[in-house]
Amino acid sequence: MSMDMLKRQAAARALEDVRDGMKLGLGTGSTAKHFVELLGEKVSAGLKVIGVPTSEATRADAERCGVPLTTLDQIDRLDLTVDGADEVDPALNLIKGGGGALLREKIVAAASDRMIVIADDSKWVETLGRFPLPIEVVPFGLGATRHAIEKSFVSVGAAGEITIRKGKDGHAFVTDGGHWIMDAHLGRIPDAPALAASLASIPGVVEHGLFIGLASTAILAGAQGIRVVQRR
Ligand code: A5P
Repeated sequence: MSMDMLKRQAAARALEDVRDGMKLGLGTGSTAKHFVELLGEKVSAGLKVIGVPTSEATRADAERCGVPLTTLDQIDRLDLTVDGADEVDPALNLIKGGGGALLREKIVAAASDRMIVIADDSKWVETLGRFPLPIEVVPFGLGATRHAIEKSFVSVGAAGEITIRKGKDGHAFVTDGGHWIMDAHLGRIPDAPALAASLASIPGVVEHGLFIGLASTAILAGAQGIRVVQRR
């Protein structure tokens, strides 16, 4: 079975948790896109929900699929967010931001009563860090911010190269919020909660891709079937 079919299966399983009247956070990425498409089919069939997209790309997808949208200015809490991830560990801590939408994704997840992560099972890892950690930064004072980030890595026993993410045009990739992204190639993050707290204290860091204690459920689709993991 193709990776894309596994992603769609995970999305379809998450849809079973959606109830009439729910306010939903809509994630970003190729897996979340399947969820938005399947949700659109349910909406066409009469399901009443309202969604908050986590990126301009997801906003466009949701509009195309006929999913009614609102913002976190109009409403301040959501029942459920369904989003993908770049890595999921056994504590359901995540690395997110491979698609560059981590800031809005985290705001939306934090405003939700529950977050379901949907993924193919290649995203499951014992220890986070194989996927480069995205860190959204303000372009001003980049050298100083990088220095502080490196110190933060040392403080938790992590190390690795930091690169500035580039867009298709070869220039720095610019997020929906107008910031840049540093990708930290750490290989292994020994203490993700400690690193998350340390990065959050750096002024030039807008947000980072460690999602600690936000996911309540992970739905992982693999060749052997679907595995649902609940956060303990
Ligand atoms: C977007 O910024 C990311 O957090 C995505 O949710 C993550 O990269 C997973 O994307 P895929 O579903 O495309 O693998």
